[in-house]
Amino acid sequence: MNITIAGGHGQIAMHLHPILTSAGHKVNGLIRNPDHAEELEKAGASPVICDLENESDISAKVGKADAVVFAAGAGPGSGAKRKWTMDRDGALKLMEACKKNGIHRYVMISAMKVEEPRGNEVFQEYLKAKSEADAALRNSGLDFTIVRPGRLTDEAPTGLVSLAYDLPRGEIPRADVAAVVAECLENSASIGKQFDLTSGSTPINEAVSALGDG
Ligand SMILES: NC(=O)c1ccc[n+]([C@@H]2O[C@H](COP(=O)([O-])OP(=O)(O)OC[C@H]3O[C@@H](n4cnc5c(N)ncnc54)[C@H](OP(=O)(O)O)[C@@H]3O)[C@@H](O)[C@H]2O)c1
Repeated sequence: MNITIAGGHGQIAMHLHPILTSAGHKVNGLIRNPDHAEELEKAGASPVICDLENESDISAKVGKADAVVFAAGAGPGSGAKRKWTMDRDGALKLMEACKKNGIHRYVMISAMKVEEPRGNEVFQEYLKAKSEADAALRNSGLDFTIVRPGRLTDEAPTGLVSLAYDLPRGEIPRADVAAVVAECLENSASIGKQFDLTSGSTPINEAVSALGDG
């Protein structure tokens, strides 16, 4: 498959590129900072310069992919405004590009329990923006998967997860989130599904396959 990843230099994305390319896929990573291009190339992805907030139509940059992944985000240091311009509107622009380019498959990296208000004012804006992006994707007509991880860590991957529509709060290494995203792209049981994701005791391929049961 040809796969375009928005947020190509994100920490999850940097784990995802080698998983996908070693499985034989071709990966384009959308990045806004040209200085990140070399790192992407080393990870096996082809960099495409694209600023998700400052470009109105990103379809030419997304290209003719078979699937897209939204792995971008304004990040913890950003103010409330960028939760809307990046976390919601960036995701919406990627949906528009899919429709324009005839791409059906969209995997979203969201977050656990974005419908439950919590945290400070800026974090609450983040939750609302993510919730609106997820709702738009569910209603988009695209073949979506919405992956909602708990708190992200930089621990080594375990390959073992808990994955269900609603889970107690927990955490998970970014590398395991990347492995789940890669598995979703391979396994059609994940199409049309939204799930919480934390570290657990089920091998990733089994956990994703089980999405087809319910
Ligand atoms: N932190 C948590 O505990 C947690 C928990 C659950 C879910 N999440 C979600 O998971 C997502 C991915 O996590 P992560 O750790 O991989 O994120 P990350 O390392 O912060 O990556 C986000 C990427 O988005 C890019 N980006 C920001 N603004 C952009 C723009 N205007 N145009 C293009 N790219 C832009 C950043 O590029 P630059 O390097 O150029 O800034 C960065 O590479 C987060 O964004 C968050 O929504 C996080």
